[in-house]
Amino acid sequence: MEDLAARGVDRIEWARAHMAVLSAARVELVRKRTLRGLRIGMALHTEAKTAVLALTLKEAGARVRLASCNPLSTDDSVSQALNKKYDLETYARKHESTKEYYENLNKVLDLKPQLVVDDGGDLIFLLHTDRKELLDEVVGANEETTTGINRLKAMAAEGKLKFPVIDVNDAKMKHFFDNRYGTGQSTFDGIMTATNLLIAGRKFIVAGYGWCGRGIAMRARGMGARVVVTEVDPVKAIEAHLDGFEVAPMAMAVKDADFVVSATGCKDIVSRKHIPSLKDGVVLANAGHFDNEISKRDLQKLSKSKRQVRDSVEEYTLKDGRRAYLLAEGRLVNLAAGQGHPVEIMDMSFSIQALCVAHLAEHRNQLKPGVHPVPPEIDEKVARVRLATWGLEVDQLTAEQKHYMSSWSEGT
Ligand code: ADE
Repeated sequence: MEDLAARGVDRIEWARAHMAVLSAARVELVRKRTLRGLRIGMALHTEAKTAVLALTLKEAGARVRLASCNPLSTDDSVSQALNKKYDLETYARKHESTKEYYENLNKVLDLKPQLVVDDGGDLIFLLHTDRKELLDEVVGANEETTTGINRLKAMAAEGKLKFPVIDVNDAKMKHFFDNRYGTGQSTFDGIMTATNLLIAGRKFIVAGYGWCGRGIAMRARGMGARVVVTEVDPVKAIEAHLDGFEVAPMAMAVKDADFVVSATGCKDIVSRKHIPSLKDGVVLANAGHFDNEISKRDLQKLSKSKRQVRDSVEEYTLKDGRRAYLLAEGRLVNLAAGQGHPVEIMDMSFSIQALCVAHLAEHRNQLKPGVHPVPPEIDEKVARVRLATWGLEVDQLTAEQKHYMSSWSEGT
């Protein structure tokens, strides 16, 4: 029998070898000793890059527990390796039930974390509902993703958020690259692994033109697809139009689409309104955090049968015989059917995470409850280390130029 944990070690070490920016952050955290003795609870996609982040925090002296932030995104080899080979308490299993998912989050919280690293907001939400007794222990948290930040901002607006949360998602070194180039590439990793189908020449709908949608549309075009963007925001729709994409409402676009990929953060993007006009053989996938963008309930209601036809591909046969193929149960296709974002991308995102965990620890009792931006010096540090590790150099302003840039009286 294959040694799953040994495979996990290889995957983790492969990722680690390509995460030079996080290595530099590790050196800094170990030297500063900021995290020594602190308890950190994490809910992230449990795969190799995440393991490197968790191990970094452990190597910096923290006690760390990890669970997955999605029941389908766990790499079991990594989860086993962390538990058996690295002595890092990990509670995550691919295909875990909803009950098991919440049990695992609760096991992370049983550590009584002082610092929290979340992706999607479920761990923070649990702390404010079922596990309120732990709130006093919490110094602060980081949130990784757009969906989580939207939830936390809604909590903060109602005065319900009880500790400071750093909005890692909106760091420049996170969303410019992770959401765009990361999702752009990994969405295709997931779609192609699941289907082995051709993208070139096909009609490909991207729902949502945020940073993720921009990345998916750009890569779909690069692969030769005919891309249509659907939007609700008129400004983003104009941006998509000027970027050279067709723009149309979903109800119209969907009629002859070969692929529909949602990346909106909203629900019911493909629903009973659209399902009756889907083309036979259409592939439906979601790249947003939650599995409610493509309505499985409506697909189920309007179908006469459903069967698994490949790993991560379910065939829904509609009442008139047309078929729709749903990837990865409508969960994040890049992680549930693929390997997540490229290592070098997560290197940048997770360096921001690591440095922000240290920032929270260093500023305990100084930050108010609410959502806080990533300090610009952390963004800049990660950018400079990234440039250096890639052997890229930039120019520097002279003293005279600096003065010019900050003066209002010197015109020419
Ligand atoms: N790997 C770990 N976390 C991830 C994320 N949020 N998106 C894509 N890949 C990841």
